[in-house]
Amino acid sequence: MRSVSIVGVGLTKFGEIWDKSLRELVAEAGLKAVADSGIGGKEIEAVYGGTMASGRLIGQEHIGALIADQLGLNPLPAHRMEAACASGSVALRNAMMAIESGEHDVVAVGGVEKMTEVDTAEVGFALGGAGDQETELFHGATFPALYALMARRHMEEFGTTEEQMAQVAVKNHKNGMNNPYAQFHKEFTLEQVMNSGYVASPLKLLDCSPITDGAAVVIIAETEKAKKMVEQPIEIIGSGQASGSIALTGRENLTEIKATTIAAQKAFEQAKIGVKDVNVAEVHDCFTIAEIMAIEDLGFFKKGEGGKAVEQGKTAMDGEIPINTSGGLKAKGHPVGATGVAQAVEIVQQLQGKAEKRQVKEAEIGLTHNVGGSGATVVVNLYKKA
Ligand code: COA
Repeated sequence: MRSVSIVGVGLTKFGEIWDKSLRELVAEAGLKAVADSGIGGKEIEAVYGGTMASGRLIGQEHIGALIADQLGLNPLPAHRMEAACASGSVALRNAMMAIESGEHDVVAVGGVEKMTEVDTAEVGFALGGAGDQETELFHGATFPALYALMARRHMEEFGTTEEQMAQVAVKNHKNGMNNPYAQFHKEFTLEQVMNSGYVASPLKLLDCSPITDGAAVVIIAETEKAKKMVEQPIEIIGSGQASGSIALTGRENLTEIKATTIAAQKAFEQAKIGVKDVNVAEVHDCFTIAEIMAIEDLGFFKKGEGGKAVEQGKTAMDGEIPINTSGGLKAKGHPVGATGVAQAVEIVQQLQGKAEKRQVKEAEIGLTHNVGGSGATVVVNLYKKA
């Protein structure tokens, strides 16, 4: 099988971006990625775009074609992938397969979401469609409520505390201070997180990722070609994707996202490395409990010990395994369709030694973990210098 590497990355600032439309966000991230890869648009053979709810949020569908058009890349084949908050990673995986199969040599992968044009209730309803509409959303269970159920069960079974969850937010907001593209440049104390007001008990405002506009683009290429294109391409050495029950009622238990465990196993097997080899990871912290469950399900910590690990600083910038150096979804922001691609951007910058104040020393192997819905789609990717 041919190998795939990332040769260029581009991000917009994340946040409430009032002065740019979805297509302008895509163009900005795309032009940055193309410039970073040092190639011209003519070398790009296909476009894969991830977006979750652009139809509902801004009335625009057909995002694959829109990206190709906006970047001046017509008439190449353009695709849109939708897998809720994992749309960006699923687009990246499908683009990788197009290169692995020999169909293409160079492909642009974009993720984008414009979420702030409608009010919070409407965003909550649109996002809720990533769960089970019939058994959850119809009854009023939006995403904060679903993750609150998982948090309650985790607290009950393992003694995880609200303070431990709050520590995830404290850490990620601290990391976000060093990310110029992050939505929030604001540190919070444990007390401020604890007093931030319940959204869905036990989750408070500052346990939640925000509503965000933003886009991310990566240019990927067959690895031998990539080595001739840029000084330091970043190879995707393992990739796993798994699905799980769309509704929480279908789960064997609420404290594990099984699709994460399975996707991680596949990625590690393909890369022929173990979790101990990973030096830096971007995991899906859409809610603080999600980061705690992710670091357990990925194998960084034993089941039930994620909360303690965070509390003990093991996941901080100078900890055993720095998690969410970008600020994560919590502080960097979560423009849902863009998130998986943006996670790849952070890991590429870490492995290339370009993460500036967020740089993890001697980072050789990176991991991204992107979840769709409450765990019905998960993609895990592993990266190293080509
Ligand atoms: N983290 C930190 N600060 C936040 C925040 C968050 N998640 N959400 C909002 N804020 C801040 C705003 O910047 C604003 O600050 P300001 O008064 O200094 O300007 C203040 O809190 C109020 O913001 P507002 O936009 O009125 O909040 P809201 O009540 O409309 O939305 C949530 C808050 C938590 C409901 C919303 O962010 C949300 O739904 N998050 C979850 C998104 C989600 O489910 N994603 C998919 C996950 S799978």
